Amino acid sequence: MDKERNTVVALVGCGYWGPNLIRNFSSLDKAVVKWACDRSEDRLAHMQRLYPYLDTTTEIDQALSDPEVDAVAIATPVGLHYRLGMQCLDAGKHLFIEKPMAISSQECRELIERAEEKERTLMVGHTFIYTSAVRRIKEIVRSGDLGDVLYISSRRLNLGLFQKDINVAWDLAPHDISIILYLYDQIPETVNCQGKAHMAKGIEDVTNMTLNFDGGGYATIMSSWLDPNKIREMTIVGSKRMLVYNDIEPREKIKIYDARVERPPHYDTFAEFQYSYHYGDIYSPHLNQTEPLRAECDHFINCIRTGERPETSGYEGLQVVRILEAASESLRNEGAAVPYSEAITAVIRA
Ligand SMILES: NC(=O)c1ccc[n+]([C@@H]2O[C@H](COP(=O)([O-])OP(=O)(O)OC[C@H]3O[C@@H](n4cnc5c(N)ncnc54)[C@H](O)[C@@H]3O)[C@@H](O)[C@H]2O)c1
Repeated sequence: MDKERNTVVALVGCGYWGPNLIRNFSSLDKAVVKWACDRSEDRLAHMQRLYPYLDTTTEIDQALSDPEVDAVAIATPVGLHYRLGMQCLDAGKHLFIEKPMAISSQECRELIERAEEKERTLMVGHTFIYTSAVRRIKEIVRSGDLGDVLYISSRRLNLGLFQKDINVAWDLAPHDISIILYLYDQIPETVNCQGKAHMAKGIEDVTNMTLNFDGGGYATIMSSWLDPNKIREMTIVGSKRMLVYNDIEPREKIKIYDARVERPPHYDTFAEFQYSYHYGDIYSPHLNQTEPLRAECDHFINCIRTGERPETSGYEGLQVVRILEAASESLRNEGAAVPYSEAITAVIRA
């Protein structure tokens, strides 16, 4: 593409999340948002009040037929991601899709294939990968400061917002899964999930998922729309130190605890056996205060302009959806372990 001119973006889906994407794409030097598309005239009127220069439409085709449009960002309900995404790729546009990428791994694979055929950039909105906190945690884990990562536990809870088409795991856990895969740098071997649907038949509003990794890695994810408190907390337990990431904290989001448990190297009798508990200092590293969504939008635009593969490409989107599918299968089988299919692994590593 012509690198001298701004990348022109159309935004599809202007509900709760879409306006955040419009704001962030608009704040970039090399991008301009030209179109806002939504089925709701009220939402479009609201967008035009905020950004009077926007062209608006209820029909995605109108934005897609504009030859000036280079890229489309989709922030509609998940069930529409595949159909709208395919339309965008077929129209030759680069594509950003919100998480979760689609409602099945089959849909994700078709989107990946179509993007490759058309030589278009495909990126998925795994926003947390672009936060300074998660970047810093990755550096800390990689440096060996925590020792071996023994397990990760994550909780993402609040009251609502209830979704009609997907359960709470599909709604909230994509964030935790994407962070956990990024930190472990591995795909799980098996997935277990249990949950309950209290408010709407068949749509779980509380779930507990576990991911088991080759080599002993283990992660748990609790997701809920039925909790009085907003909690976004991840604990990474290492053999040397432990780290707590609290995304609600405005300043000290990461705390590293110099805490561990040691087993005695040798003992002859049970009476001699004693764990030793080590409690040391707590340290909170400084983090840059950059808006993750801005970094995410900037990365998408840069990938379009350079042809580089996004850090959260369709392949990462597919991995998350495959885990959600395995979790759904496990939910139907009372929490039984479901293997992460070999066939899908082959696609990802291709
Ligand atoms: N990355 C994040 O942190 C984050 C946060 C929240 C939501 N999301 C994701 O963003 C997406 C949207 O979520 P939301 O909470 O904004 O949903 P929402 O229901 O508030 O908004 C969806 C919008 O899409 C519009 N829409 C529906 N069908 C359409 C069509 N055919 N063409 C154009 N517009 C159409 C609706 O009118 C609505 O305004 C979901 O994938 C969700 O998971 C991501």
